[in-house]
Amino acid sequence: MSGCCLVTGGAGFIGTAVSRILDAELGEVVVVDVLHPQVHPTRSRPPELDPRAELIVADVSEASTWEEVLRSHRPTRILHLAAETGTGQSLTEASRHAVANVVGLTRMLDALAATRLLPEQVVLTSSRAVYGEGEWEREDGTRFYPGQRDQQMLARGQWDFPGARGLAFEASRTTPRPTSVYGATKLAQEQILRAWTESFGVKASILRLQNVYGPGQSLTNPYTGVVTLFARLAREGKPIPLYEDGEMLRDFVYIDDVARAIMLAFERPPAGPRMLDIGSGTPITIRQAAEIIARTYGAPAPVVTGKYRHGDVRHASCEIDQARAEIGYAPRVAPEEGLASLCEWVNARVERS
Ligand SMILES: NC(=O)c1ccc[n+]([C@@H]2O[C@H](COP(=O)([O-])OP(=O)(O)OC[C@H]3O[C@@H](n4cnc5c(N)ncnc54)[C@H](O)[C@@H]3O)[C@@H](O)[C@H]2O)c1
Repeated sequence: MSGCCLVTGGAGFIGTAVSRILDAELGEVVVVDVLHPQVHPTRSRPPELDPRAELIVADVSEASTWEEVLRSHRPTRILHLAAETGTGQSLTEASRHAVANVVGLTRMLDALAATRLLPEQVVLTSSRAVYGEGEWEREDGTRFYPGQRDQQMLARGQWDFPGARGLAFEASRTTPRPTSVYGATKLAQEQILRAWTESFGVKASILRLQNVYGPGQSLTNPYTGVVTLFARLAREGKPIPLYEDGEMLRDFVYIDDVARAIMLAFERPPAGPRMLDIGSGTPITIRQAAEIIARTYGAPAPVVTGKYRHGDVRHASCEIDQARAEIGYAPRVAPEEGLASLCEWVNARVERS
């Protein structure tokens, strides 16, 4: 039995990007991934997964998966990525999200405890979805948690909470209040991992990722990745439809920056459990993202539709100072550059297929 880096969900978007740098840094990499049909329509090993990574096709929420994996591998580091990630979908398929995200984690922890194969470190990719709408500030400087925007508010086209502005999320200050089942399962993951690792003396880093984008993102999964959807429409010469008034703020963080943040979290282990926000540091509106993509393809200007989706948050961005201070995280790719790389990749991918 050898020491290795175990990556659950490692055949997905973030996992394949990480696989290319993990092997060089951390030695043997073993991926456990069920090749979920929504993410992997052909159910085959993705070519983006580094060929040196061993792939075990199995479901993290099955106890038998862990019996098999831990019989032959002794992970010294674990990166837990495996998850159902459809925010909107989670509202109507709550059990599916709870089983993969919550039971998937607890099955792994139970198996590690039962076999006494405690890893040195675990990194969990959590999500900005744990914050929901986050904290807002009124003009007089008082702050409040507005909670989820209700149906009447959205139906009359009142997108913002009047007289207030949304603040950037910050793990040490913003209380998580998820507005989707997906967000609630990510928060449950965080709390379960925290309790377990503290009890067993395992070092844990929880990274709350903003909207990750870039080459390698699924072009077929309709439930995630708004910018790939925009790129496909603009490439076909269609105007990008903007929900609400298009002024929702998002922090699009480039895939390579996220992969580096994960590596840095491993390289600089914490003294106790830690929680870090990972974003680009330069949030933009959905309209700005759409305009960059439309310009890249010479497509017509984006069009405001006034449509909306229940459960979508109005603004989402984060402070990255703590990640900078603790692990030396410094995003390198600005949205203009990253979105251009994404469009190039989409072109190559569509032409190839
Ligand atoms: N991409 C983002 O914008 C973003 C933002 C915040 C957090 N995250 C988190 O990062 C992680 C990875 O996200 P991603 O964007 O790479 O998603 P992805 O869907 O591309 O990858 C997830 C992988 O997990 C696998 N998987 C799903 N259910 C599984 C199960 N029961 N057993 C084993 N494998 C399973 C899938 O087959 C897929 O390969 C997730 O935990 C997600 O919550 C992602």
